[in-house]
Amino acid sequence: MKPGYSLMKHYLQFKDLRAEEYAYLFERARIIKRRFKNYERYQPLADRTLAMIFEKASTRTRVSFEAGMYQMGGSVVHLTTGDSQLGRAEPIEDSARVISRMVDLVMIRTFEQSKLEAFAAHSRVPVINGLTNEYHPCQILADIFTFIEHRGAIGGKIVAWVGDGNNMANTWLQAAHILGFTLHVSTPRGYEIDPQLVGDAIACLKTFKDPHDACEGAHLVTTDVWTSMGFEAENAARQAAFADWCVDTAMMQRARPDALFMHCLPAHRGEEVTAEVIDGPQSVVWDEAENRMHVQKALMEYLLLGRIG
Ligand code: CP
Ligand code: NVA
Repeated sequence: MKPGYSLMKHYLQFKDLRAEEYAYLFERARIIKRRFKNYERYQPLADRTLAMIFEKASTRTRVSFEAGMYQMGGSVVHLTTGDSQLGRAEPIEDSARVISRMVDLVMIRTFEQSKLEAFAAHSRVPVINGLTNEYHPCQILADIFTFIEHRGAIGGKIVAWVGDGNNMANTWLQAAHILGFTLHVSTPRGYEIDPQLVGDAIACLKTFKDPHDACEGAHLVTTDVWTSMGFEAENAARQAAFADWCVDTAMMQRARPDALFMHCLPAHRGEEVTAEVIDGPQSVVWDEAENRMHVQKALMEYLLLGRIG
């Protein structure tokens, strides 16, 4: 048995950690980021190995986990459906049993959350959600850290979500419940958040028919692609349904004058956001992308070593 095994935690949904654990992680991310910027070597994960399993495409998630693990002294194994037995129908439970005997930590990007949960249930080591159809907790971890860097605590604030009631929207709502802020959501009819995926967090949700109204008084306006990975067959219908859900200057003007704009990326300028907004002064999308690495380093440190000091 590995040291700390009995205390093993997975990170499958945002609600898997408590508010005080998030406060700790954001502080660790701040310290880890400062060390990185100062070129200070920090390698607490020497000899540890992270397996990354991708069943969907990625740029940020792969680079941030891979670079982050190497910077912390560890190493990485990268697997995809196409180049492993995962694509040839080896049961997920068997893959979990085998992979988790050889590595210390596993990050998975896949389709159904149930697949991630099945892997975690048969894993000897912590499992991190690198995006599923239902949730994207590492992204919201980075987004909230970015908000804190720019504007301070997020508790009591208003976040406006304009667009699809997707994995990002579900995760924002879980975060609102844990960290005490309100989520304004405007989606086209038929693309609402599924209440079954968010549980008690539904109490933090305010819905708006008109996306401009959702932005009223917001401290942060955020959106995402109209068609998420795995839903490509719906693309034509979505292009029509989402035409009015493009974050533009008029929407940003309904938010607070100091409102930030975020997008998890990749973005489609002219669809879910105008170039003027995403490339404009309120946008913090590049900080948001970079911060994926810093927060995930803090998360990996926490899952493998517990609290430092
Ligand atoms: N935001 C995000 O998860 O990006 P990738 O799909 O590039 O990993
Ligand atoms: N909602 C998007 C996020 C991509 C990072 C998707 O699931 O494709």
